Amino acid sequence: MSLIKSKKRVADHGEVFTPPWLVEQMLDLVKGESERIDSRFLEPACGSGNFLVPILKRKLAAVEAKFSKSEFEKQHYALLGLMCTYGIELLADNIAECRANMLAVFADYLNLDEGDDFYRAASFVLSQNLIHGDAMTMKDMDAKPILVVEWGYLGKGKFQRRDFRLDVLTGMASFSAEGSLFAHLGKHEIFKPATAYPPMTVRELAGAGDASGEAA
Ligand SMILES: C[S@@+](CC[C@H](N)C(=O)[O-])C[C@H]1O[C@@H](n2cnc3c(N)ncnc32)[C@H](O)[C@@H]1O
Repeated sequence: MSLIKSKKRVADHGEVFTPPWLVEQMLDLVKGESERIDSRFLEPACGSGNFLVPILKRKLAAVEAKFSKSEFEKQHYALLGLMCTYGIELLADNIAECRANMLAVFADYLNLDEGDDFYRAASFVLSQNLIHGDAMTMKDMDAKPILVVEWGYLGKGKFQRRDFRLDVLTGMASFSAEGSLFAHLGKHEIFKPATAYPPMTVRELAGAGDASGEAA
């Protein structure tokens, strides 16, 4: 397995992929979190998913251990696991590969075809969670602030979505630091979503991808 695509890309973008054995050792350092379905992981230089794919696999193994007896729960919690993985990547081919690699693992686990609602919903989620942008400036390729989607599972097939600006989320620590002008503000005053959506079913998420034209 090659860990580089070209010398030029290494020089221009520091593109050297992490070998699988090292990824597994690093994930074992946070074993409990990596095996929890709803723990959130953001890879700010995700490449084609050398970390995100094994994280998704660990989450799906947790889904299998907990929900394999109910197809309904298994499918919905598998989607929740996918919803809790995030990436940012500068290069268009890498982010496209990353979305495709994640979707292939998810579809393989649930035995999905391209037309299935869960496949289309997963494709939409990946188009939102795996962002083509610059993690340093926290802007996407249209120079707009990167938005991070907070997904939640409400049960009974319904998902919640709230969008937050990444620059606001990462600024939280300094807002609440002692001596900060904003230290007197409650977290709820800073921690406001840019957009909050009504609860959505998997079918609605699948349709959202068709409507926006954004799918992995
Ligand atoms: C060292 S590689 C690591 C890839 C992957 N995380 C892995 O471990 O295999 C760094 C990746 O970050 C991307 N990258 C470089 N600068 C970036 C930036 N400012 N924002 C987002 N991604 C960036 C590169 O294109 C490359 O895919």
